Amino acid sequence: MDIPWEERFACRMEGVTSSAIRELLKAVQQPGVISFGGGMPASELLPAEAVREASHRVLTERGHYALQYGLTEGYPPLQAWIIEYMARQGIIIDESNVLIISGGQQGLDLTARLLLNPGDRVAVESPTFLGALQAFNAYQAAYVPMPMDDEGLEIESLEAALAAGPCFVYTIPTFQNPSGVTLSQERRQALVELAARAGVPILEDDPYSQLRYEGEHLPSLLAVDASRCQSASDVYQGNVIHVGSFSKLLGPGLRLGWVVAPAVVIRRMVQAKQGIDVHTNLYTQMVVHEMIQDGFLEQHVARLRVVYRERRDLMLAAMARYFPPGVSWTRPQGGLFLWVTLPPSLNAGELLGEALCHQVAFVPGTPFYAGECSPHTLRLNFSYPRPEQIETGIQRLGEVLAQALEPAVFAIEHEIASP
Ligand SMILES: Cc1ncc(COP(=O)(O)O)c(C=O)c1O
Repeated sequence: MDIPWEERFACRMEGVTSSAIRELLKAVQQPGVISFGGGMPASELLPAEAVREASHRVLTERGHYALQYGLTEGYPPLQAWIIEYMARQGIIIDESNVLIISGGQQGLDLTARLLLNPGDRVAVESPTFLGALQAFNAYQAAYVPMPMDDEGLEIESLEAALAAGPCFVYTIPTFQNPSGVTLSQERRQALVELAARAGVPILEDDPYSQLRYEGEHLPSLLAVDASRCQSASDVYQGNVIHVGSFSKLLGPGLRLGWVVAPAVVIRRMVQAKQGIDVHTNLYTQMVVHEMIQDGFLEQHVARLRVVYRERRDLMLAAMARYFPPGVSWTRPQGGLFLWVTLPPSLNAGELLGEALCHQVAFVPGTPFYAGECSPHTLRLNFSYPRPEQIETGIQRLGEVLAQALEPAVFAIEHEIASP
C-alpha cells in the first residue's frame, strides 16, 4: 500500500513552503537570462585560490584534527577571532558568548527553536527577509509586521508591536534585505531601549554591515546594547542575539556564520544544535580561520566594496535612464539590494512572466511580507550581474514596465522605432 505522505507530515509543516527565490533561481538558470533575483555575491570574486591554499595547509598540517568530530560551540581559534572582532567594536565577550553556526540562516532557526511556541508572535520589519519567515514558520510563528520608511522601521510601529507582546523583534538594521534601507543611529538607540524596557529580546541579523559603500559606519544593535548595559569588566549579558555570516564576505557555499549572545542563550543553542548537526563543519571552520587570521578578510572586503559600489551606481544610473515615470526605488548605502515601488496599478508577480520573456529576472515583493503586502514592489540584486548585464537587464526591465504602464503608447513607439 502506498503511504499517503501528505497526511503524515506534522502540523508544523503546514506553514512551510518553498522559498520563492530558490524556485525562481531554478527558473532563471537558462542561458541568456539576466538575473537580478538571488542575493548572491559576484561569482568571479569568490576567493577560490585563497580557499585552495588554506585547505592545503589545513590538510597538510592538521588534517587529522580537521576531519575529526569537533566542539559544538565551534573551532576555538575561530571563536577567538570573533571575540577579537567584537572587541574592535567595543563589545566585550568571551567564548561563552559565541557559537559558530552553519550560515546565518541557522542562527534564525536556532533562535526560533529556543524562543517560539506555536502561535507566538514575532515582530518583523515589513517587508523582511523571506528566509527568516521560512525559518520562523517552521515553529508556527504569528507575526506583527512593522512598517518602515527611509530610516528603517518606524518607532511608532515598533511601540505598537511591543505592546502586542512579541517573543522577540527580528530586524536587519543595516542594508536590509530586501529594501536596502539602514536603521538610523537615533532609531537604533530607541529600538534597543524600548525593547529592553518591554523585556523583549532583539534578534539582530547582520550579514551586510561590512559591505558599506558610502556614509558613516553605524554601531550594531549589539554594540548599542552593550554600551547600555555593560560595565567595563563584564562580558555581554544584554538583550540582543546577534547573527553574523561569512556568506556575503567570503562565499555562501562555505555555510559559515556566528551567533553572539548572552551565555545563557548560547548554552541552550548549543544543546539545540547538538540535536541538529552536532557541530558546524570543522574542516571549513579551520580553512576559513586559516584564511582570515592575517588580514585577508579586510583586504578582500575592501575589494568587494569597490566592485559592488560600482555595480550599485551603474544600476541606479540605468534605472534613472530606462525606468518610466511613476517608478521609484531606494538608494542603499551598502549591501546587495535595492527595492523598487511600481505604480499601484502594476503587479510585480504578474510582470515576472513578461520579464522572463524579455530574459530578465527579479524577485516580486509579495513573499517578503508577513502581513499585508504591496504587490507593486520588487527586489533587485546588483552584486551578482556583471556591469554590462546590469545596463542591458535594466533596459529590458524598463521596457517591460513601460509596456505594462502604457501598452498602446509602447506599441506605437516600438513600431516607429522598428525598421
Ligand atoms: C538578511 C539575511 N539573513 C540571513 C541570510 C542567510 O545567510 P547565510 O548564507 O549566512 O545562511 C541572508 C541571505 O541572503 C540574508 O539576506
